[in-house]
Amino acid sequence: MQTIALLPGDGIGPEIIDEAVKVLKAVEAKYDLKFQFKKSLVGGASADIYGTPLTEDTVALCKDCDAILFGAVGGPKWDKLPKEFRPEQAILGLRKSLGLYANLRSVILFNALSDASPIKKEIIGEELDIMIVRELTGGLYFGKPKGIERTHDKTRAFDTMEYTDEEIKRVARIAFETAQRRQKRLTSVDKANVLETSRLWRTIVTDMAADYPDVKLCHMYVDNCSMQLVLNPGQFDVILTENTFGDILSDEASVLTGSIGMLPSASIGDGKPYLYEPIHGSAPDIAGSGKANPIACILSVAMMLEYSFGAKDAASAIKNAVERALNEGYRTFDIQVGAKKVVSTSEMGDIIVENL
Ligand code: NAD
Ligand code: IPM
Ligand code: MN
Repeated sequence: MQTIALLPGDGIGPEIIDEAVKVLKAVEAKYDLKFQFKKSLVGGASADIYGTPLTEDTVALCKDCDAILFGAVGGPKWDKLPKEFRPEQAILGLRKSLGLYANLRSVILFNALSDASPIKKEIIGEELDIMIVRELTGGLYFGKPKGIERTHDKTRAFDTMEYTDEEIKRVARIAFETAQRRQKRLTSVDKANVLETSRLWRTIVTDMAADYPDVKLCHMYVDNCSMQLVLNPGQFDVILTENTFGDILSDEASVLTGSIGMLPSASIGDGKPYLYEPIHGSAPDIAGSGKANPIACILSVAMMLEYSFGAKDAASAIKNAVERALNEGYRTFDIQVGAKKVVSTSEMGDIIVENL
């Protein structure tokens, strides 16, 4: 029996989590797995009831589970709140308190969607499979000092980009090991021509390469990387980068796959539980309309089955079921190109379950 914390959150979060749970229940029967779900409020939904986006009870519940499935948090309703009450603190707080320092964001293009990207098919190529390893608990997001100071004539806000050698090493290790299991090409992305943190990053990653002689390492500046991703994405296998750069580059990379609604992720650390979530947000503009694409969340479940439960067959079955739904021409509204039938969030979930 595996216990899974379900944290739907805000906006489209609950809508996509419902579909992911349908899929989990369907694989349960077929693959001799047993799940127990423990649901909790996070983000704005939690702030509205408990006055905080992440309660200690929720953190405790998560620590007690084997894996966590997270929807999305945030929305205009809470945008004016002081920072400690903002919904986004829920996901940041979970990542930090669970020590989830590496975020694996899988950028895979399904064949059926080869025309769906605004980037030309010839540029994307036949196959696209990039793994972005994003550092998740350091950098600008968590560096200190951080704050805002107001005096009578001036307001000053500041964030600190900070990395220790150990923080860089542990995420780089994951990236090298990930590359070893794939095409053995690692691109470390930084801004070493300007930032001290990036210079340390580059030195450490370069030194570590000696321990992974089978991996071909190269370095790239982040501004160039953002261009290379849409110019020649086929050059990338594994991309390793710090927190903020990884956040931005992965939204950009998602466009190659047809929609941000296609990209799953796994946040991992030194011990369980790991956390799984789509890379997108709560999409307030389409929440409640049945337009959300649940595939990123469903593929996050596939990552959970593989990484947390070692259930590779079930994970592949989910990916195949998604592929079949797309091959049959089913699309949610975010991917209109090549759509034979535009379906709702829950219809897409049902079709994927039927295809399992
Ligand atoms: P977003 O990812 O929510 O949405 C960006 C655009 O992509 C929108 O047009 C949205 O409709 C579309 N989109 C996103 N996911 C989709 C899906 N599954 N199917 C179809 N279309 C989808 O980013 P945003 O608009 O910048 O942020 C909205 C809120 O989400 C903010 O409060 C932000 O802080 C929060 N956010 C949360 C997370 C998270 O919880 N992990 C991640 C990103 C943003
Ligand atoms: C993401 C989101 C989060 C991040 C926000 C909501 C804190 O954009 O998961 O990509 O920046 O990490
Ligand atoms: Mn993001």
